[in-house]
Amino acid sequence: MTAQKNTKTPQNLEDLFDEFLKEVEKDLKSKGSFWNPTFVTAAQIPNARTVVLRELEVPFFIIHTDIRSQKWIEVEQNPNTLLHFYCPNRRWQMKVTGLVEKMGESECKAEWAKISQSSKEVYGLPFSPGLPCTDPKTAGTPKKLSSKDEEKNSFENFGALRIVASEMESLQLASPEREGYHQRALWCLKKQDYSYLTP
Ligand SMILES: Cc1cc2nc3c(=O)[nH]c(=O)nc-3n(C[C@H](O)[C@H](O)[C@H](O)COP(=O)(O)O)c2cc1C
Repeated sequence: MTAQKNTKTPQNLEDLFDEFLKEVEKDLKSKGSFWNPTFVTAAQIPNARTVVLRELEVPFFIIHTDIRSQKWIEVEQNPNTLLHFYCPNRRWQMKVTGLVEKMGESECKAEWAKISQSSKEVYGLPFSPGLPCTDPKTAGTPKKLSSKDEEKNSFENFGALRIVASEMESLQLASPEREGYHQRALWCLKKQDYSYLTP
């Protein structure tokens, strides 16, 4: 089967970034590659981990986490963070840099209301993420939340982070469906300034 030329190839950089936002929207529904970015912090030493992107409304990227986790401490030490996306099918990398904010209690309650019961149960695990444990099965098996009090206790470990993007950098590798060359581009959100970069 010969690959069809993608007629939706962006004609300009504004379209390119709009296309990324649309593709993220799709992946949030279908749990595609852009649903699972890598969240990078840089406190004393760099650190990175996979997360679930809960919501994107430019310039805000929302993620959830356990407030007992290392990343929660690290963003206090340095709020400069990076979200790294890569989709192998699209051969598309996106790097989003910005400052992270801890969302307030009422916003966290609203986020909590959106997540599944099984996600809520994870926040009820008794020990802090990353602590040594002797029994990985017990340490990693969430308990059902069978009362309001148990749900309240889980919520106490729940935190939501808002990454406020300042720059987004795209790299699309050449592919038969797209173009025969690599294309790298930068979107500076504050200035609404788009530019091509040498890949
Ligand atoms: C597919 C996948 C999705 C994940 N989603 C999240 C998430 O949304 N939030 C989160 O805190 N950890 C998530 N994790 C776990 C993190 O990658 C990480 O192991 C954990 O949060 C501890 O990180 P830290 O010690 O650097 O804070 C996910 C892991 C995987 C493999």
